[in-house]
Amino acid sequence: MKLSLSILNADFSCLLAAIAELADLVDYLHFDVMDGHFVPNLTFGPQFPNSLRDKIDLPFDIHLMVDNPALYAPRFSLRPTDVLIFHGEASDPPDEAIPAIRRLGCRVGVSLRPRTPLSVLEPLIPEVDWILVMSVEPGFGGQEFMPESLERLRDLRRLVAARPVTLAVDGGIGPGNVRDVVSAGADVVVVGAAIFRAANPRKALLDLWQAAGRPRS
Ligand code: DX5
Ligand code: ZN
Repeated sequence: MKLSLSILNADFSCLLAAIAELADLVDYLHFDVMDGHFVPNLTFGPQFPNSLRDKIDLPFDIHLMVDNPALYAPRFSLRPTDVLIFHGEASDPPDEAIPAIRRLGCRVGVSLRPRTPLSVLEPLIPEVDWILVMSVEPGFGGQEFMPESLERLRDLRRLVAARPVTLAVDGGIGPGNVRDVVSAGADVVVVGAAIFRAANPRKALLDLWQAAGRPRS
């Protein structure tokens, strides 16, 4: 299991210090870019992760909850190990979004809302490096995990078969369900509220690894 820390619920005024405290327990940093159209919430644009890119040594996975991923992709400055993720339901079609992301030299990810049929994703599997399975409706951190996501994850695992695609799961993951998510086939769990809403985020991360059956110290 790899862990991506979603910063959506972090205190942005001391983000670098908070990440420095947790970096050894984390494999990726997850950024939620929301445009107020694709989802009913606004966060930040490319300037925010771009300005942090050389100050943090973890790979970034950037989740674009925007209608025009092909338009905005070129504005990100990313490393080859970073992942830029577009939504299959966005108004820019995948055959525009995927090459726009590839041109950045980073990895390409695709995500789907929880109720979009997996058939939308099937033709894209050979074209992408990551699939981000949403286990909540995208838009807000701290929502309840949708249990039907586990079956969806198992189905997707079968569809991906032996292809080198990373399966990540995003939303509502905490110590109570992380083991089920990994058993259902997740390579990466994205976790935000369970860490940043805890009184002691470092302890919360250690507890999460423990709950996943992969204790860290
Ligand atoms: C929701 C976001 C998630 C969220 C993580 O739209 O995509 O990344 O921050 O979920 P929580 O906060 O539930 O761990
Ligand atoms: Zn996300």
